[in-house]
Amino acid sequence: MESIIIINGPNLNLTGERETKFYGRVGFEDFLDELRSFFPKLRIAHFQSNVEGEIINKIQEAMLEYNAIVLNAAAYTHTSVAIGDAVKAVDIPVVEVHISNIFQREDFRHVSYIAPHCSGTVAGFGLDSYRMAIEHLARIQ
Ligand code: DQA
Repeated sequence: MESIIIINGPNLNLTGERETKFYGRVGFEDFLDELRSFFPKLRIAHFQSNVEGEIINKIQEAMLEYNAIVLNAAAYTHTSVAIGDAVKAVDIPVVEVHISNIFQREDFRHVSYIAPHCSGTVAGFGLDSYRMAIEHLARIQ
C-alpha cells in the first residue's frame, strides 16, 4: 500500500466547529498533519465535497491513482444509492469511516448504502476512526 485517499462528504469541512459534541474540536486539516506523521511511508491525499456527484467522480478517479479509499460520505451515507454503486464499481479496497457512533444516534443514521460494498466500517472513535481505518489498509497488500 503506497497511497490512500480520504474522501469526505458534506459538512465535514466544518469539523472542529459544528456539533462539537459529536465531531470534536479539531479541524480536519490539523488532524491530517498528525495522520500523515503517523504513517510516514504512505501518501495520504484528502478530498472533501458537499456535492454528491463530485464525490462519485472522485471515487471513480481514485481507482486510477490510489491503492485504497477511506470514505466518510457523511449524510450521503444514509441516502445515496449512487455513492453506494460507485463504491461497488471500484476494484480497490474502500473502508467506511464515521467520526461519531452512528448507531447511538437517530434511527436514520443506522442505515448505510455504502457499508455493504466496503471492506469494513470504523465508527465512533472520533477522528481516530480514520487512523484505525488506515492502520488496517497499511497492513494489507
Ligand atoms: C458522520 C455521521 C453522519 O450521520 C453525519 O451525517 C455526518 C458525519 C460521522 O462522521 O460521524 O455528517 O458521517
